[in-house]
Amino acid sequence: MPLHRVARFADVPEDRGLQVEIGECKIVLLRTNGQLRAFQGECPHAGAPLADGALCHGRLICPWHKAAFRAEDGALCEPPALDSLKRYPLELRGDEVWVDDQPLPDPHTPPADDSRTFVIVGAGAAGTACAAALREKGFSGRIVMIDREADAGYDRTVLSKFVLAGEMTPQETPPLREDDFYKEQRIERQQGEISAIDAPNKTLHLIDGQTLSYDAAVLATGGEPNSLKLPGTDLPQVFVLRSKTQAEQIMSSARPEQRAVIIGDSFIALECASALRQYGLDVTVLARHAMPFAAQFGEAVGKAIRALHEQNGVKFITEHAATEIIGDGKVEAVLLDNGLRLSADLVLAGIGVHPATEAFASLPREKDQSLRVDDGMRVTDGLWAIGDIATFPLHGQPQRIEHWRLAQQHARIAAANMLGGEEHYLDVPFFWTWHFGKNYNYLGHAEHWDEVEFLGEPEHPPFIGLFGRNGILVAAVACEKERVMALLAERMKQPLAMEEAWTLVRDYA
Ligand SMILES: Cc1cc2nc3c(=O)[nH]c(=O)nc-3n(C[C@H](O)[C@H](O)[C@H](O)COP(=O)(O)OP(=O)(O)OC[C@H]3O[C@@H](n4cnc5c(N)ncnc54)[C@H](O)[C@@H]3O)c2cc1C
Ligand code: FES
Repeated sequence: MPLHRVARFADVPEDRGLQVEIGECKIVLLRTNGQLRAFQGECPHAGAPLADGALCHGRLICPWHKAAFRAEDGALCEPPALDSLKRYPLELRGDEVWVDDQPLPDPHTPPADDSRTFVIVGAGAAGTACAAALREKGFSGRIVMIDREADAGYDRTVLSKFVLAGEMTPQETPPLREDDFYKEQRIERQQGEISAIDAPNKTLHLIDGQTLSYDAAVLATGGEPNSLKLPGTDLPQVFVLRSKTQAEQIMSSARPEQRAVIIGDSFIALECASALRQYGLDVTVLARHAMPFAAQFGEAVGKAIRALHEQNGVKFITEHAATEIIGDGKVEAVLLDNGLRLSADLVLAGIGVHPATEAFASLPREKDQSLRVDDGMRVTDGLWAIGDIATFPLHGQPQRIEHWRLAQQHARIAAANMLGGEEHYLDVPFFWTWHFGKNYNYLGHAEHWDEVEFLGEPEHPPFIGLFGRNGILVAAVACEKERVMALLAERMKQPLAMEEAWTLVRDYA
């Protein structure tokens, strides 16, 4: 065993990891119950340095998107990572820490005696995480994953951040799993569109007339972008963005120096404004609100994000709405309700999404077309719904939340329950949004708050803002405060008093 001396025991802090390197190999050392462990140093999701995260309640939380791993053995606890951490053999020689440069073999060998078929509809964030979790949790039966898109699940969050900025081609969008994974894990990928479900008979119908029987099924069809209801919407340069194909269409039309009008001020709308501006387009946002995101992040952060966009040349129009898109065979302008004619080469609508549940009309649906699930993500016997289409109980209140990590948290809960478990959503919603190189993180889900206070100024990151209700922390927003946000992701699972939250924030400042 090629062991290497990498640190002293006393160098390893108690509340975080210590990164060490053996040649090119980055390793994170952790203290857990008085013992040391060595794991891969970079997060299996997108490569964040895990030593910049937080160690709390026996879990290591990633600084970037808050995946969590058990400190004892590196097991995956929370997405968006879909793999556990590789563990490296470690030896203590007196005070010296010696680590092998080769990881231990994966101990996981699933049994192979299950004759059931589990079908996953939708291979996006939630569907792919569910397939991975089923195998991770030991399911050895047949897994069929159906998606109307040809490609395997991919990270759609980069489309509005890096693809539209020209930093990544649509083909370079990272897949969630490599092709080998599906082969090795015997996950059958099928391209097809589900058109109906017969839940009492556990049967799915595809638009090509096929039917598929299941022992258990998971519906994970995500959101469908709302389209504009204006004359001219059918012109070829009017876009929405949800899929790689749509990103391809936008990028085959967009050219630096062109004029883009973004209709809407959703997260996707403003991420697209930032990306297209970075690509060199002249960008105008027709916004519904003077301060974007104020409902989620509060006025101060909304104002700061708008200012960031304006400093980078994005123009905002907030008083007037579009009434028509003008053009003869191609977009020429957007007409506003005050008669103003905004010249445009490209229009992108970012006015929200609705749950893609047309195929599930036989199931009871909520007003917004979502599927109501119980706290174990169950719709009915043998049927689960997860991700953007699911209205689930969060602190007793039905909520539908469109976040990547939350969709994958749902997926892990559904997978456990399909295998006979009794897991419930007890987590903290989290999402991130990216504007002109700044990554804003948000934890919790607060529609109302009675106090909000900041450390640092939202206009000049780093900053963190805590939102409290009745003295309890209900949400946190931050930019460049990754370690403390990683810690709060864990601590907010239990009610956390504002005072205590501020003590943590100051200790980590
Ligand atoms: C451009 C963009 C950027 C985003 N950025 C962020 C971000 O930074 N942070 C964040 O937290 N969230 C972000 N989100 C939101 C996040 O991507 C979603 O919350 C997440 O993808 C939801 O996962 P899902 O599995 O429910 O749906 P999806 O990932 O949309 O997957 C649904 C899949 O179902 C398939 N499908 C739909 N209907 C059918 C059918 N009838 N038959 C077969 N297949 C079907 C679709 O083709 C799709 O592949 C972003 C979303 C977009 C579009
Ligand atoms: S890089 Fe760790 S969760 Fe994304």
